[in-house]
Amino acid sequence: MAAETLAGALTDIIRIGGETMPEAPEKNLALDIVRITEAAALSSARWLGRGNKEAGDGAAVDAMRNSFSTLHVDGIVVIGEGEKDHAPMLYNGESVGMGDGPQLDVAVDPVEGTSLLAYGRPNAISTVAVAPRGSMFNPGPSYYMQKLVVAREARDVIDLDAPVAVNLNNVARALDKNVQDLVVFVLDKPRHKKLIEDIRSTGARIQLHTDGDVAGALMAVDPRSEVDIMMGTGGTPEGVLAACAIKGMGGQILARLDPQSYVEKEAINEAGIDIREVLTVHDLVRSDDCFFAATGISGGDFLRGVRYSARHAVTHSLVLRGKTGTLRYVESYHNMDRLSKISAVQY
Ligand code: FBP
Repeated sequence: MAAETLAGALTDIIRIGGETMPEAPEKNLALDIVRITEAAALSSARWLGRGNKEAGDGAAVDAMRNSFSTLHVDGIVVIGEGEKDHAPMLYNGESVGMGDGPQLDVAVDPVEGTSLLAYGRPNAISTVAVAPRGSMFNPGPSYYMQKLVVAREARDVIDLDAPVAVNLNNVARALDKNVQDLVVFVLDKPRHKKLIEDIRSTGARIQLHTDGDVAGALMAVDPRSEVDIMMGTGGTPEGVLAACAIKGMGGQILARLDPQSYVEKEAINEAGIDIREVLTVHDLVRSDDCFFAATGISGGDFLRGVRYSARHAVTHSLVLRGKTGTLRYVESYHNMDRLSKISAVQY
């Protein structure tokens, strides 16, 4: 199926008397994939603050894979848990879904921010994005990319090669703010020492986070968040996942592969990928027909974490459809008694 025809496969455009009428509402796959991120969050949040990254991630992967198996899609994991030999499940290239629906590229991060979860810090989330087959950027051997993310109002004024001060001044103007009003999300990593100095010298404010730049990107495009812009280098897979959400919200991400080791750089060169190319949101996801869901695990600035009681668990999720830009916040009450009788996964 061509990249742009997923919508057509789900619902045909209505034609009456030869005229093309507006499309009927189509199936919103984001409402299906949010059940998958909910399941992963419900499983992994049991590991909050218990110091075990692997156990938290493993619980989320098991739950996510189990939920995928009930979905009527023919999905291939493009952004997954890594290469097949190292990742027993949800590895890059793995088929997911029942195989009888639309052909999709699938991006998963069962726990985005495994350390955040293990140490009980805010903003660990579970995320899934899907888009028509062949439309997602394949990171190949690239682990790291430089990213600049802004909301819709500032999407045309950023330039990855411009000095930090120029970008911040332009973004401030586009958002009708002073530079000193801005809040910039940056991962607190040694590689960002100069970036942080440059931001500080403009007078802009900074949120430094140890991990979680998908959450950072979501905050930068969500008008309800105090974050105005995300800058710095983070994971390439996380950049593709975030792009699906950024597209839905109408924002922009500018990105460029930024290998952090000689081995990574050589592998990218060998794969024939141009390291200098500036990628936009449309290069990272080449179709508007994308869907994104994220559920809070540890709770944070924009999504609440999983709350358990003896009988219920409550999850809080964000659900986005790229084509229409419809954004939903979903609060779900899960009845643990009933779930424990029918579910293959123990929550
Ligand atoms: P994990 O969930 O895989 O631990 O990733 C967390 C994260 O902080 C991402 O949000 C970010 O893109 C990446 O790691 C940054 O990588 P590093 O910690 O190696 O700088």
